[in-house]
Amino acid sequence: SIPAIALNSGTSIPQLGLGVWQASDEETERAVGAALDAGYRHIDTAAAYGNEAAVGRGLAASSVPREDVFVTTKLWNADHGHDQALAAVDASLQRLGVDYVDLYLIHWPLQDRDRLLRTWDAMEEIAESGRAKAVGVCNFEPHHLQLLVDRGGMLPAVDQVELNPHLTQKDIRAEAAKLGIAVESWSPLGGTSRSGWGPESKPNTLLGDDTIGAIAQEHGVTPAQVLIRWHLDNGLIVIPKSVHPERIAQNFDVFGFALTADDMTRIAALDDGTRLGLHPDEMNLGAP
Ligand code: A2P
Repeated sequence: SIPAIALNSGTSIPQLGLGVWQASDEETERAVGAALDAGYRHIDTAAAYGNEAAVGRGLAASSVPREDVFVTTKLWNADHGHDQALAAVDASLQRLGVDYVDLYLIHWPLQDRDRLLRTWDAMEEIAESGRAKAVGVCNFEPHHLQLLVDRGGMLPAVDQVELNPHLTQKDIRAEAAKLGIAVESWSPLGGTSRSGWGPESKPNTLLGDDTIGAIAQEHGVTPAQVLIRWHLDNGLIVIPKSVHPERIAQNFDVFGFALTADDMTRIAALDDGTRLGLHPDEMNLGAP
C-alpha cells in the first residue's frame, strides 16, 4: 500500500497522488479513472484548473468508494476574503459532486495581509464544519507562514510549493518541519513544456537531465520514476501530472527500487534554483 504522511489535522495523506493541472475535462476524467485503476487514492485539483467537475465524474464512475480517495482542491485568488472563501468551497464541492474534500488549500498568498487573514478565518471554519478534513496553503514562503503563526489558532496542514531537484526549497522545508506542516511538491517532474507562466514558457529540463537519465538507467527505471522516488525519499508529498494511462501507471510503480546515498548526492548537485512559476512575492495577486 501507498505510504501516508500524518497531517496536523489528525488525518493522513497518501504520499503519492495524481495532479491534473492543464488537463482538459476529457483527459481529466480518463486520467482519474486510470489512476484509481492503477492504485492511486489521491487526486489533486483546483478551482482554477477548471476541471473539478471532470474529477468528480472520474470519481463517480470508479468502483473505488469516494471515502477511500483523498481529494484536494484549492481556493482561487479572486475568492480571497471570509465570505468569498465560504462560497468558494461550496462551489468546489458542488462541482466535484462530493460533500467534503480531504484537503482545501489557499492556491496563492495575497499581498493584502488583512484579507489573507480573513481568508484563513474562513479556512478554519471550513475545517471545523467538516467541509474539508484538513486545510492548508500553497506557495507560502516562510514569511507568509509566520503571519498565520502570529495570528494564533489553526496552522496549515500542508504547504504545496514548486519543488523538484532544481528548486529544493530548503528554507520552506525547514520552516514547515519546525511548525509541523507537511510539504507537497508541485511540478515534481519539472513541469510541463507548455507552461502558461509569463511571456515565455520554460521547457522541462529535468526529465531529459543527464544525471537523472544515468541514475534511471542504472536502476532499470525511467527518469520520472527516479524523480518521484527522490520526492518520496525526501519525505515530500508528490503529485505528478500525466494524462497518459501508461505514464500514470508507471509513475505509481516506484516502490520496487531505492535510490542510493550516492544517487541522492548526485541529484543534490542539480539544485540551481530554476523556477518555472512566478515567485509568490513577485506575483501581484491583488484579488478584486
Ligand atoms: P503528460 O500529461 O502528457 O504525460 P509535473 O508533474 O512536473 O507538472 O510535469 C508533468 C509533465 O511531465 C507533464 O507534461 C506530463 O505530460 C509529463 N510526464 C508525466 N509523467 C511522465 C512520464 N512518466 N514520462 C514522461 N513524461 C511524463
